[in-house]
Amino acid sequence: MYDIKQAQEIVNKALIAANVSKEPAGLYEPIAYALSVGGKRLRPALTIMGCNLFTDSVEGAIDAAIGIEVFHNFTLLHDDIMDNADIRRGNPTVHKKWDENTAILSGDAMMIKASQFVTRTHESYLKSVLKTFNKAAIQVCEGQQYDMNFENQSFVAEENYIEMIRLKTAVLLAASLKIGAIIGGASSEDAQHLYNFGENLGLAFQLQDDLLDTYGDSKIFGKNIGGDIVSNKKTFLLIKALSTAKGDGLTELKDYIKREEFDRDHKIDTFKRIYDSVNIKEATEERIKYYFNLANEELDKIGVKEEKKTLLKEFCESLMVRTK
Ligand code: IPE
Ligand code: IPE
Ligand code: MG
Ligand code: MG
Ligand code: MG
Repeated sequence: MYDIKQAQEIVNKALIAANVSKEPAGLYEPIAYALSVGGKRLRPALTIMGCNLFTDSVEGAIDAAIGIEVFHNFTLLHDDIMDNADIRRGNPTVHKKWDENTAILSGDAMMIKASQFVTRTHESYLKSVLKTFNKAAIQVCEGQQYDMNFENQSFVAEENYIEMIRLKTAVLLAASLKIGAIIGGASSEDAQHLYNFGENLGLAFQLQDDLLDTYGDSKIFGKNIGGDIVSNKKTFLLIKALSTAKGDGLTELKDYIKREEFDRDHKIDTFKRIYDSVNIKEATEERIKYYFNLANEELDKIGVKEEKKTLLKEFCESLMVRTK
């Protein structure tokens, strides 16, 4: 069995071997940059581990795993334009280091590269793998559109937020696992349980991402803290604060959301103070635990020996305390 570290190593080696660099440099250099500046490689590692639950030889899942990682990195190039983000993984984002046109076109090329990698999967699984991949990919776009829509809505219901993060983040983690399972020869029931595991893990993961965006350490997290607050993202934190804060705190929050001009740091400090006053951090942590538990329940339903699930469980636990 491969643990998460070993799975990540397999992916990194394969990514280097797949070296996508060629001419024109203006198209390919940003891609090489995006893929080389780190990242946790969670999704491809999940594909490898998902496959490994059902078979000892994970070779057949490597191309799909890399395709998923390239796809994920593509979404980040475009997401950073949409979110006005200057820093990712502790380095300038592609649209800052180059420009927006570069991030758009290199991103487009990455989407196609991603599809090419996934398509290298053995033909006995290809149809089902592509179907799972394409479905998740279009759902990510849907989630990203809701995310942008919500920036301009003064009220977003919690359930709509959960659906948004399910689409933009959770389904890709779920699909990563399911694709591994398919290639590993899992039954459709087991593949579905693994998908459900990934979906709940993904919800917890995005909630954590929201939490870290406000309460993380930028040096470790690798992104500028407070970006979500500045752009009025309807994160779990803000939605909870809007439904729990009262009196002056609530008025202040609502007024700030409407303001077009403000001092960045002052807005972040104000939101944080209000969040702290109504224990938003604790409420978010509680919800994260809730989805982690749901994830584990799905894992319990999978028909493989307990010891095979241990590594995934351990990985799940390590994510619960993530700081980046
Ligand atoms: C960032 O994903 C985007 C989200 C879905 C929160 P990761 O946190 O997996 O980013 P990297 O690849 O490790 O940088
Ligand atoms: C991004 O969510 C999800 C996708 C990239 C599809 P975020 O916008 O919160 O991700 P970060 O925080 O920029 O990594
Ligand atoms: Mg975003
Ligand atoms: Mg973003
Ligand atoms: Mg975020």
